[in-house]
Amino acid sequence: MTAVELTFEQAMLVLDRVLQTKHLSNIQELVLRLCWKGYTYAEIAESSGYDDDYIRDVGFRLWQTLSKALGENIAKSNVKTVLRRYYANLVPAESAGSSITAFPNAKPQRRQDWGEAIDVSIFYGRKAEQALLEKWIIQEKCRLVMLLGMGGIGKTALSVKVAEQLQSKFDFLIWRSLRNRPPISALLADLILFLSQETEENLPETTDGQISCLIKYLRSQRCLILLDNIESIFREGETAGHYSPGYEGYGQLLRRVGDELHQSCLIFTTRETPSGFTAREGETLPVRSLQLTGLPQLESQQILSSKGLANSAAETKQLIQSYTGNPLALKIAATTIQSLFDGDISQFLQQGPVVFGDIWVILEQQFHRLSANEKQVMYSLALKQTWVTLTELQQDVVPQISEGELLEALLSLQRRSLLEQQSGRYSQQPVVMEYVTDNLMGQVCCVLS
Ligand SMILES: Nc1ncnc2c1ncn2[C@@H]1O[C@H](COP(=O)(O)OP(=O)(O)OP(=O)(O)O)[C@@H](O)[C@H]1O
Ligand SMILES: [Mg+2]
Repeated sequence: MTAVELTFEQAMLVLDRVLQTKHLSNIQELVLRLCWKGYTYAEIAESSGYDDDYIRDVGFRLWQTLSKALGENIAKSNVKTVLRRYYANLVPAESAGSSITAFPNAKPQRRQDWGEAIDVSIFYGRKAEQALLEKWIIQEKCRLVMLLGMGGIGKTALSVKVAEQLQSKFDFLIWRSLRNRPPISALLADLILFLSQETEENLPETTDGQISCLIKYLRSQRCLILLDNIESIFREGETAGHYSPGYEGYGQLLRRVGDELHQSCLIFTTRETPSGFTAREGETLPVRSLQLTGLPQLESQQILSSKGLANSAAETKQLIQSYTGNPLALKIAATTIQSLFDGDISQFLQQGPVVFGDIWVILEQQFHRLSANEKQVMYSLALKQTWVTLTELQQDVVPQISEGELLEALLSLQRRSLLEQQSGRYSQQPVVMEYVTDNLMGQVCCVLS
């Protein structure tokens, strides 16, 4: 058999088969793709904007994963040879030299890339949200859709569910998380290479040029792009939704995808509204936002039941109310109740403030990002324990801040989904209030000790 040069797409088909349900992460795939083209780690780091050491580490883990999956030592130096051998074994003997006959399409194409999307096989409710999103995206052809809400409320889960629901309506689908803060050039390169089926090799140098190139594909084919955790690229310690230095290109991307004419849709999830977004959205415009709130009683109860909790209706209701139907909080609480209270909700509720484990971590992450004024407002609201007006709040916040600063902080907290507003009065979700009170107590203890 003559040794045939294996293309990267064919190599990926081999990996799809051998890795089966597992898959390479986005960055692993990027490193493999560029290694395939003969790039050194240093060149990959330079072209993708990532740190040199990080790329080496990704490479190291990639070879480890492949070695494990293929049952032999794989390294940068032999990956092509080994995968070519595997590919040849997949191809029927009579057509081994032709390289493509094993696969029905003349040019193998992967039209969906789910990245690190989470499993949503257990998913309750959200039917109204799904129907609304389908209406916006399919009937009304929205180009940019934001899913907004506090940590753990179910943005990521809903984004994956909607993508599953709408996948047949799109030629291409790609799902990416921004949790690792990829530079905009790395994300755009990733999107363009995928949507162009690897044909777009020489990318423009400027961000604007790269976005134009992406939009060319969004015009010529129906693409669904999902970007998760946009808040990861916002600045911490300032009012919500401002891009970190070096990440302003993301603002440009959202702006242009929303403003320019094409037949695709970009859905993103975030805990904070990106600055400049509100001015673009509107009922008659192809830019929309959906703020997620907690799950209703029935679906919340289903989450608790799935964790084996079956207490009296009154207790369950109280538990759900304390967490305002936040699925993550409910899951965490249910696990705690099972392990510490032998499944007895009332014992758990008697413990008073109920903030445990992961939801705490989530709130800690959110709190860490607040500006000094926002923190003061959060402390004042937690001390009040009830709904307060703007004037009351202004008297309470120490040290005093101007009305303008207070309004700015309130607006920002609202964008972060940490604040509840009702007929001109403000308060916090119960879990949030408990967290803030505890955080405040911690600070007081530090000062006194
Ligand atoms: N409708 C639902 N039914 C069942 N489980 C759900 C539902 N929505 C979310 N969950 C579960 O709750 C947890 C939190 O959801 P998810 O990760 O989507 O929250 P998030 O809003 O994206 O949070 P973050 O801001 O931290 O990214 C996950 O374990 C998810 O599977
Ligand atoms: Mg999420």
